[in-house]
Amino acid sequence: MAKQVNNGTPPSKPAVGAPGASAFHHLPVMCDEVLEVLGSGPSGIVLDATVGGGGHAAAILAANPDISLLGLDCDDAALTAAAERLEQFGDRVVLHRSAFGDLAGAMGAAGVASISGFLFDLGVSSPQLDWAERGFSYREAGPLDMRMDRRQRLTAAEVVNGYEEAELARILYRNADERHARRIARTVVAARPVADTSQLAELVREAIPAPARRRGGHPAKRTFQAIRIEVNGELEQLAGALDEAIRRLVPGGMGVVLSYHSGEDRIVKERFDRAATGGCACPPRLPCACGATPIATLSRRAGRTPIVDEATSNPRAASARLRSLERIVGTVGPR
Ligand SMILES: C[S@@+](CC[C@H](N)C(=O)[O-])C[C@H]1O[C@@H](n2cnc3c(N)ncnc32)[C@H](O)[C@@H]1O
Repeated sequence: MAKQVNNGTPPSKPAVGAPGASAFHHLPVMCDEVLEVLGSGPSGIVLDATVGGGGHAAAILAANPDISLLGLDCDDAALTAAAERLEQFGDRVVLHRSAFGDLAGAMGAAGVASISGFLFDLGVSSPQLDWAERGFSYREAGPLDMRMDRRQRLTAAEVVNGYEEAELARILYRNADERHARRIARTVVAARPVADTSQLAELVREAIPAPARRRGGHPAKRTFQAIRIEVNGELEQLAGALDEAIRRLVPGGMGVVLSYHSGEDRIVKERFDRAATGGCACPPRLPCACGATPIATLSRRAGRTPIVDEATSNPRAASARLRSLERIVGTVGPR
């Protein structure tokens, strides 16, 4: 069995109705491209900050016999599935239940100081969306939950039934570029208390003008995405975790991030650019005089997207964007 670091809350058995490991179907996105990046780095320990069901992790371990893996996830059901899937790799795998927002704490608990590579595959996994009890799905009736880490207090119910109208509208716009954010927030607040995901999805459908309902997939998709991001603090954790992961890379180490919407990708681009410039603010065509020290170089093909075949066969892949970087040899080392 893959080793699990005991942080007082070991991955529990999946709750009744949860997908077991064999039923935890999540197709890893842009897997060949991720392997290409991480396979070009040195041997050592790769951090999979969002191990999910272990799809990417299994592919990385199978393709690179000289690599071990530290896998994090804040979802107990995902970690249970990953442990089963990665069992074949024995002590090359350590799993730890943690949000990547506490990367330093998680790496400390696992006894890992530096890494030869990292992967962040952001957002939710397919089983989280498919299991109605988790409350992520706008297609199925379920509780207003949406927590990846079921130990945390904030749930979707509190956001939907407790946030002020203006705040609700703000997160719909910020987290999902929802053009009808104000109308949706007004409709939801007027209908309180909203009982479950079906009612929420129906309220959003009613709030959106009829012509707009017929465009761009399910009308509630963006609202559910925005509330999920709020509940799980997804954007707040990302910048600090990326900075920490880049700092922990050994020289020549490779980092790769898969993001699925513009809010995530903006943060990834900004933190990667900062690592590549050292935060230099000197005028573009003049030599740097501010003493900034770049600690990474960006992949030449910035912001890659999946090939058309993958985007067609795996709908989750359609919005994926991959960014990668290499830690520079001979600059500031890992803390
Ligand atoms: C897209 S899935 C990863 C799938 C995985 N790459 C695979 O191939 O099976 C994202 C996973 O990251 C986890 N996750 C999301 N945000 C997280 C965070 N801040 N800290 C830790 N895990 C997180 C989710 O629970 C989910 O299991």
